[in-house]
Amino acid sequence: MTELTSPARTASFARPARAGRAETVRFALTHTLPAFARGIAAPRPRLAAAFGALGQYGWSTATLRSLRARYGGAPVRIRGLSGELLVLLDPADVARFFAEPVAHLAMDAVDKVRMLEVLEPTGVICSHGALREARREVNDHALAADRPVHPSCAEFLAVVAEECAPLTASDVLEYAALRRALERIGRRIVLGDRAAHDEELHRGLVRLREEANWMGMRKSRNPANERLYAQVAARLEKYAAEAPPHTLVARALSVPAGPEFPELDPAGQAHHWLLAVDAVALVVARTLLMLAVHPAEQDAARGDDTRMRACLQESLRLWPVVPDLVRVTRAETVWRGVAYPAGTHVLVPVGFLQRDPQTVPAAELFVPGRWLARDADRDTRMAPFGHGGGRCPGDQLGLLLGTAVCRELLRGRRVSPPAGAPHPCRPLPGALLPTPLPLCAH
Ligand code: HEM
Repeated sequence: MTELTSPARTASFARPARAGRAETVRFALTHTLPAFARGIAAPRPRLAAAFGALGQYGWSTATLRSLRARYGGAPVRIRGLSGELLVLLDPADVARFFAEPVAHLAMDAVDKVRMLEVLEPTGVICSHGALREARREVNDHALAADRPVHPSCAEFLAVVAEECAPLTASDVLEYAALRRALERIGRRIVLGDRAAHDEELHRGLVRLREEANWMGMRKSRNPANERLYAQVAARLEKYAAEAPPHTLVARALSVPAGPEFPELDPAGQAHHWLLAVDAVALVVARTLLMLAVHPAEQDAARGDDTRMRACLQESLRLWPVVPDLVRVTRAETVWRGVAYPAGTHVLVPVGFLQRDPQTVPAAELFVPGRWLARDADRDTRMAPFGHGGGRCPGDQLGLLLGTAVCRELLRGRRVSPPAGAPHPCRPLPGALLPTPLPLCAH
């Protein structure tokens, strides 16, 4: 039993808040299954659009609100698709979730590993224990997780400027073109310029992500997936061997690796990095759409990186890339006087909580200024990058790249609202899908 249980142990006779059958089915139908159907590792745009049009976000919000009301904000035990799930709905419990060491509330939850092990079996996020710590150290160093500005910032910004130049040649910013630019930026900053044109590598990565969406359910595909992973990994290794020192993979390889972890795989961390840099395209697309409907904010953010960064954080609060954070307990834990066995999955519905009017003011509106407040980045009521030991080590780099791309696209230009753009003063939709954005001279 760990230290964190003892004080509440005496109260372990409190009754657990356990969802009934109807609530369990409702949670699966309105929250969990749509999340899987929309695709996590590889978004499925058509399904995302369909769920958006049907108002799925509203269904999930209503379900979580009713659970919170019914059980007085207590953690709710729900039968999930692969076992017991404890859903946290109260800011105090969520703050504790982030404060717990990852050794107790581990990142490698069953469903997450089932999904991600197809595309990054040696990724830090799929790891545990001392090996995880060693891989996290490699990530922290490569990504300069503890620094506001990455040491290779100058090289990365030059890459962004080059890759964004073709995007401004037309008077409409197409999402597919933006996405391709981020894919090239990712390959160049992770592996070096030699990988810039390697679209075949990206096709392999995307196929693995699409397969990951099935969470290992398509067993017959496993041998083919393993072969594909081996091919992609060999290609990454080839680039890694000659990568310039400023690249992420070269920085990862520069971390001294002791003999105790022959399976450390520094270059293998690149699978997650490339996935994450690709995701920046969606964040940029949503942020630019918000700036199109908020012209004053657009003018304030143009040329002001701190303001632009706040716009990216705000669009991540409204439409998080990771809407649910899931961990698995490695020891008995006590929540509100109730003891839960080791192996309990704990879920924080970040997407719901950080848009919840009960805890976040003007929760349904685009208010980037909230991120300029001191320590807003450490406020556990908003967690687009998570917090604590499992916080995203690429948060600074992700925001640096997103800010730089927006700056390049708005240099001497402005985005204007496309048809059907959300109204700036009404509650924003639960889903915001990328759309062609009119670009004109400023
Ligand atoms: C907009 C951009 C990004 C967002 C919103 C984001 C969000 C997140 C979140 C929420 C987590 C925690 C997931 C969990 O608890 O299961 C995470 C983990 C992680 N992210 Fe990011 N991320 C972003 C960009 C990046 C970038 C650019 C990189 C690297 C190039 C990166 C590398 C990682 C890694 C390696 C982990 C796993 C950390 C661990 O297991 O300790 N992320 N990210």
